[in-house]
Amino acid sequence: DEEKINAALNRYKEKIATLPKEKGWVTKDLYMYQGFWHQPGRVNSIEALMAIQDTFKAHPTDIYLATMPKSGTTWLKALVFALVKRHHYKNNTKSTHPLLVSNPHVCLPGITIEIFRNTPFYAEGDSPRLFATHIPYPLLSQSILDSGCRLVYLCRNPKDVLVSLFHFANKLRDKSLGLMTFEEAYQLFSKGVMPNGPYWDHVKGYRKASLEHPENVFFLTYEEMSVDIVDVVKRLANFLGYPFTEKEEAEGTVNEIVKLCGFKNLSEVNKHGLNNVFFREGKVGDWKNYLTDEMSRNLDEITEEKFKGLDISF
Ligand code: A3P
Repeated sequence: DEEKINAALNRYKEKIATLPKEKGWVTKDLYMYQGFWHQPGRVNSIEALMAIQDTFKAHPTDIYLATMPKSGTTWLKALVFALVKRHHYKNNTKSTHPLLVSNPHVCLPGITIEIFRNTPFYAEGDSPRLFATHIPYPLLSQSILDSGCRLVYLCRNPKDVLVSLFHFANKLRDKSLGLMTFEEAYQLFSKGVMPNGPYWDHVKGYRKASLEHPENVFFLTYEEMSVDIVDVVKRLANFLGYPFTEKEEAEGTVNEIVKLCGFKNLSEVNKHGLNNVFFREGKVGDWKNYLTDEMSRNLDEITEEKFKGLDISF
């Protein structure tokens, strides 16, 4: 209840005050905890991470979507929601599909939403529960790691993540902080300083887990989704235990889902208010319009060095 939550928050705040700090993107500061940088606050925050590590209970049937911010979380949330719930909405022609009226982040919540709330998002017995998170693999709650549940990890070319985050942060930053310059964003990113960063350590943790436990961790890139989304949706469906039947394939169910979750449709549905901050270009390679040759070379070198032997390509 509220009192317990506040007591825990105070405990976390005391701990956070002792941690190393760096300049933030959306928030004024970022804090280094267990090898990664975290934002303060209530959502996707260091407080939420501590609470999740302390109290979150995973179920073996849960499905987790893990991403670094700006890697395509919104797209993946929409796709997994649409594909796992497809029978429910197909047979219920009276109700509008949630993705036609609300944001994917509302349809498929972050784990944070279960923490700091009196009423859980999912009812007792709901299965599977779909959750998203930006928490780095080594920091995931032991309960999730032990539960044997399935997890999808999505990553994206670091140069496009940098550009996407640069725009996102400038839209959401407190006015008092002023706008970031791209140079400033690049410097922080290269040092690994971003929410849930370093970028490379985040990807590496999940990549290794996917190589060691392919039946539990499914590894995807934004780039492969952009090349052949139909194939990715079919593979996702197989991995998650919701394969498409021949009949469904013949009826064009996969294409319907792809269209429903495509940039064009979702950005139209979410064009009002803050909802639209998750939709910008939705393209591969926008970094070419922002990075100098030297910036690009430098990030490529870091990426090559950090991802050696991990078989990751964008
Ligand atoms: P850009 O800023 O490069 O356009 P996240 O959802 O993790 O915050 O990532 C946001 C990025 O994904 C943004 O990238 C956004 O435009 C893009 N995006 C959002 N919805 C998408 C969709 N349905 N298809 C493809 N890209 C999408």
